[in-house]
Amino acid sequence: MTTRLECTDLSGGRGSATAFRNVDLTVEAGSVLALLGPNGAGKTTLLLTLSGLLAPQGGTIAVDGARLRGGRPAAANAAGIVLVPDNRALFTTLTVEENIRVASRRNGPKPKSLLETFPALEKRWTLPAGALSGGEQQMLVMARALIQQPRVLLIDELSMGLAPLIVEDLFNTVSAIAADHQCAVILVEQHVNLALEVADAAAVLNRGRIVLRGDAKELAASPERLESAYLGTAEAEVAAAAATSGSAAS
Ligand SMILES: Nc1ncnc2c1ncn2[C@@H]1O[C@H](COP(=O)(O)OP(=O)(O)OP(=O)(O)O)[C@@H](O)[C@H]1O
Ligand SMILES: [Mg+2]
Repeated sequence: MTTRLECTDLSGGRGSATAFRNVDLTVEAGSVLALLGPNGAGKTTLLLTLSGLLAPQGGTIAVDGARLRGGRPAAANAAGIVLVPDNRALFTTLTVEENIRVASRRNGPKPKSLLETFPALEKRWTLPAGALSGGEQQMLVMARALIQQPRVLLIDELSMGLAPLIVEDLFNTVSAIAADHQCAVILVEQHVNLALEVADAAAVLNRGRIVLRGDAKELAASPERLESAYLGTAEAEVAAAAATSGSAAS
């Protein structure tokens, strides 16, 4: 396995406020990490920091072992980090094709090549993005990310406002993208069970700290551990496990 993304002792926030601290995460090439946690835990702020849109307050971020200078979105993007933000940020009056084209890299794949992964976009190709359904818009958002040939894909609440069946479909696509393109995916999600189905590993952030982490299937089978992590009572468990084995999951 190849470590694609690694952050160590990472802290960050906006201005002098700290939203997350001492976060260590490793995501392997071709794998999906579900980043879970209650509202206000710091998930979005962590993704914004990993993608260079916010400068870290401390710690390091590396892609394929090469350390990034924090707070530089262009450098993070050049290293292969692509953020799928929680607000979709589509150009609603541009067509599907134009939305993909504006994100494409010079000498990168052609927009049409995305239809292999997102066949449902074919009959919407010349429509304005604003005329698409919520699920189709999220496919377009993912297509726009994929055309950038990500090595690290940071996805913030892709499922917001979508029916569970559509979410399941989208998550299966996310998992296929991770495997086919060998990228490291961090999936921030409120649909905990659906996220754990597609993820390899999971981490729960609560009040800015990782309070639980482990294999996704194992955590899915331990709802009581997840619940206490959400309630913020699992910190002691993680500390104890880390002290004995060096792995917070065991
Ligand atoms: N634009 C902002 N300006 C100042 N503080 C902010 C801003 N956005 C978020 N925060 C604060 O940063 C902290 C972390 O918020 P963040 O948005 O990262 O949480 P989150 O885990 O993504 O929550 P949610 O699940 O609701 O999206 C919170 O205390 C929040 O109030
Ligand atoms: Mg958020």
